[in-house]
Order: sequence, then structure tokens, then C-alpha cells
Amino acid sequence: MALVPTAELMENTRGGVGAFNVITVEHAEAIVDGAGRAERPVILQISENAIKFHHGQIAPIAAATAAVAETSDVPVALHLDHVTDASLWEVAPQHGFGSVMIDASKLPYAENVDETGRAVEYLNSRGLWVESELGQVGGKDGEAPLSAHAPGARTSPDEAAAYVMDTGVDALAVAVGSSHAMTTRDAVLDHDLIAAIKEAVAIPLVLHGSSGVPDAELAKAVRGGMIKINIGTALNIAYTDAVRGHLAANPDNVDPRKYLAAAREAMAAKVSHFLTVLAG
Ligand code: G3H
Ligand code: ZN
Repeated sequence: MALVPTAELMENTRGGVGAFNVITVEHAEAIVDGAGRAERPVILQISENAIKFHHGQIAPIAAATAAVAETSDVPVALHLDHVTDASLWEVAPQHGFGSVMIDASKLPYAENVDETGRAVEYLNSRGLWVESELGQVGGKDGEAPLSAHAPGARTSPDEAAAYVMDTGVDALAVAVGSSHAMTTRDAVLDHDLIAAIKEAVAIPLVLHGSSGVPDAELAKAVRGGMIKINIGTALNIAYTDAVRGHLAANPDNVDPRKYLAAAREAMAAKVSHFLTVLAG
């Protein structure tokens, strides 16, 4: 089973596909463990920001994450997330990634299309699947577009359809009410907009910033056609709460394995829960 190409995993999975952000090896272990418990396929995603945290080095964290994926009993894909730097997506194939999210959303439309189109050509020809997103819809002239996942941003179905045609991407991240890095779970999704975008666009739709979306809303979004559901912050909350709790209860402990084991278990339980919700 183990590591499979993202395109294959997306093709063969019914219901929503959870894509969880990996920062440390414990994240990868927890995500694979949680997916095994839920008996669901899963995507391990490493963001450009996580690579910056690892001293700008892609190889160590990618190799460790891929090796953890190989231990899995359920299918696992490896995705490179929110890439703005072309020199990073160019090396994705050699580091075992099955997909890349090109984040040119802060560029004006024409430049976003050029950069994303170039990445699609290069990565598709090497067997990788490409996700990308449009910038904020309706930005005023002269203003730099915001990320599509800024609070309040929304995707226009017509513009999404044109963008998919212009770029040839395999999946589209859409702005339908979620936003990144929420620590409360009270985002309200626009389900009518999800239906309209699904009608306009034939490729899989991706929800970013899903940590802030309540379970019932996530399940409804999957029923409405959202396929890849990106979750990062919720795992980091579980991780940090577990470390704080462990150290508060054991103030003399100096062995990181003890509090990291607590963090890993808390993340695995979260992953298993989310994947069960997304399965439909
Ligand atoms: O690409 C990753 C995500 O959109 C994660 O967002 O940390 O708000 O769950 P989140
Ligand atoms: Zn995101």
C-alpha cells in the first residue's frame, strides 16, 4: 500500500480526502497512525513555510515523511503545499512528491496563469498532479490581490472556470468561507457557492483553512462536492495542548520523548476523527 501518487489516491477514494500538514516527523507518524485507525487514505503535505523552518532544506523532512508513509497500511500521498518559489516546485519530483500546490494567488491574474501554467506543464509531464488557486475576487484596481483564503474572500464560479481552462490545473483551491489558521471552529461555508463552482468547474475542489470549519459543515461541504480538505492548525493545537498538559503535570520531566509521545497521540486521535467525518 504505502506511498502512492496523489492522482491515483484522488482517483480511487470515495468521499473527502483529508490532507494534513507535516511540520515534524511526529506529525507524519501521527497522521499515518490516525489514517490507519480510520482505515482511510490520507495526504501528507509539507508547505514551503515548513521547509523554511527546516533551514530551507527540503530533503531531510521530505525523505523522513516519505519513509513514514512507506510504513502505512493505507494509501498515503505526498504533497508539496503553498509553493511560491519556482525553484522549489522544480525539485518536487526528485523528492518523492506526487503533487504540488502552486500558490501564485498574490499575483495579478495574467501572471498567476503564466506561472501556474508553466508549473502544470513541467510537473504533469513528470507524473505530478497540480493544485492552485485564484487570488481574491473583486480586488480593486491597483491593489495586490489577497490570498483566496483571506477572511471574506470568495471565488467567482465564472472566473474559476476561465482560470481552469487557462492553466490546465488538476485541482482548484476555492474561497468559500474558510480562512487559514483559525483557532476556533466557527467558520460558516457558503454551500450555494460551492454548488455553483462545482457546476462551473469539472476538476476536484480543495478547501483550505479547514481547521476552523465545524464537523457538520465539513461533512456538508464534502457532500456538496469539496474533495480535498486541508487541515493544519487543528493538529498543532492538539500537539501544543498535549505538550503543555504533559509538562504542567510533570514539571521535572526533561525527556522530549515523553511529551512528544503525548503530542503524537493527540494528533493521531484528531486525524482519525477528521477522516471519519470526511468519509461521509
Ligand atoms: O494548506 C493548508 C491549509 O489550508 C491548512 O489550513 O491550518 O487553517 O487548517 P489550517
Ligand atoms: Zn492552505
